[in-house]
Amino acid sequence: MRQVLLTLAVLAGLGLAGAAAVVGFGLYNVSAQVGHLPGVSWVLHTTFRNSVRLRAPSMETAPDLADPELIALGAGHVATACAPCHATPDTRRNATMRAMSPAPPRLREAIGDWAPNELHWIVENGVKMSGMPAWPAKGRADEVWSVVAYLVAIRSGTAPPAPRMPPETDPQAYCASCHTRIGGRVPRLDILSPAYIEAQLQAYLIGTRHGGIMAQAASLVPRDRLAPLARAFAARPDRAPMPVPDPALAARGAALARTGTRDIPACLACHDGPAPARGPVLDGQRQPYLEIQLRLWRDGILDHDPLMQAASRALDEDGIRALAAYFASRRP
Ligand code: HEC
Ligand code: HEC
Ligand code: HEC
Repeated sequence: MRQVLLTLAVLAGLGLAGAAAVVGFGLYNVSAQVGHLPGVSWVLHTTFRNSVRLRAPSMETAPDLADPELIALGAGHVATACAPCHATPDTRRNATMRAMSPAPPRLREAIGDWAPNELHWIVENGVKMSGMPAWPAKGRADEVWSVVAYLVAIRSGTAPPAPRMPPETDPQAYCASCHTRIGGRVPRLDILSPAYIEAQLQAYLIGTRHGGIMAQAASLVPRDRLAPLARAFAARPDRAPMPVPDPALAARGAALARTGTRDIPACLACHDGPAPARGPVLDGQRQPYLEIQLRLWRDGILDHDPLMQAASRALDEDGIRALAAYFASRRP
């Protein structure tokens, strides 16, 4: 018995010494020109697939993935965030991306036969040691679904062509490809003040307001263009669809916004008219956008303003829907 233990200890010692030599003397070749040793790729890829399967979120948290507004938003994000590595269905990967190891597959192949919730996990978390990045903001699973909706539409052949716009040379056209065009969860900017718009762009850039789609968009535009863009969009009419909210729901929201309850302050105390020191104008803002933002505030995912965080803490689902309907039904 002692003999066996001794042999095992010697073998373990030799193994450790071998590993230390590989690390210490640089014996392992990290060149991306040569692939992994035989078998290693299989181990890594099988680990990857099983890890994603285990952790993918429930489909019950998914919005309607066939919603054209959600698909258009995802297409706009993919065009600048994913296309540099994976290309779009109508473009090719550049030579340098094809020299990565592992190389990012073309978008259609990357989608493969992954289920929508598995795609969601990959896009939100990224893949360690592969070059596949995580979503650029924490807690924004809601945003990731827009990309998943677009990927699923590519697979079923119903995706719109990916937008191509030059953020650096024509930032206004770039911002307008989402704002003033898509609607739904993309907010109106023409009801806001230039100062508020610019402050939000800065907050997305430095990460105090958590949003991956806008962090990406704001980071593509030269810094000295942000103030002129804020002025331009405060004045540029937004003609994307504005469906009329349910009047009964809006009436319930009106009562809550005006008088509040024991736990919820009156929203109009801070959101009535253009008072720069308080909250932004909400009158005429889009209903889906307002609902999403209110849930994010209530759940503590948005935390860049202590007043607003306290005001939303006690909101329930019915209150959120009613308040969003109320503000969306108002004239700006
Ligand atoms: C910096 C380059 C880069 C960017 C940007 C990037 N990816 Fe990837 N992606 C990769 C690499 C590398 C892999 C891993 C390929 C592998 O392991 O075989 C990958 C893997 C994937 C996979 C899994 C494919 C498989 O192996 O089955 C999906 C899906 C995917 N990416 C989607 C996206 C989406 C959507 C975006 C944009 C939100 C994006 N990627 C952004 C490089 C990138
Ligand atoms: C890919 C689509 C897309 C592009 C491109 C885009 N946006 Fe946005 N924008 C959004 C979405 C979606 C939101 C809501 C973000 C959130 O939930 O955090 C938003 C939010 C905003 C907000 C916050 C509004 C509010 O009421 O607080 C401002 C300001 C804004 N965008 C300005 C811009 C400007 C300026 C540009 C160009 C540099 C731009 N956006 C480009 C989709 C886009
Ligand atoms: C004490 C003042 C205060 C009260 C009360 C208040 N808010 Fe706010 N709210 C703010 C401030 C300040 C912001 C802007 C934070 C920032 O700088 O982004 C804000 C932001 C918001 C936003 C995000 C707007 C956008 O365009 O992204 C929504 C939606 C909102 N509030 C809704 C409400 C609702 C609904 C209520 C009532 C339940 C309410 N607020 C009560 C101060 C308040």
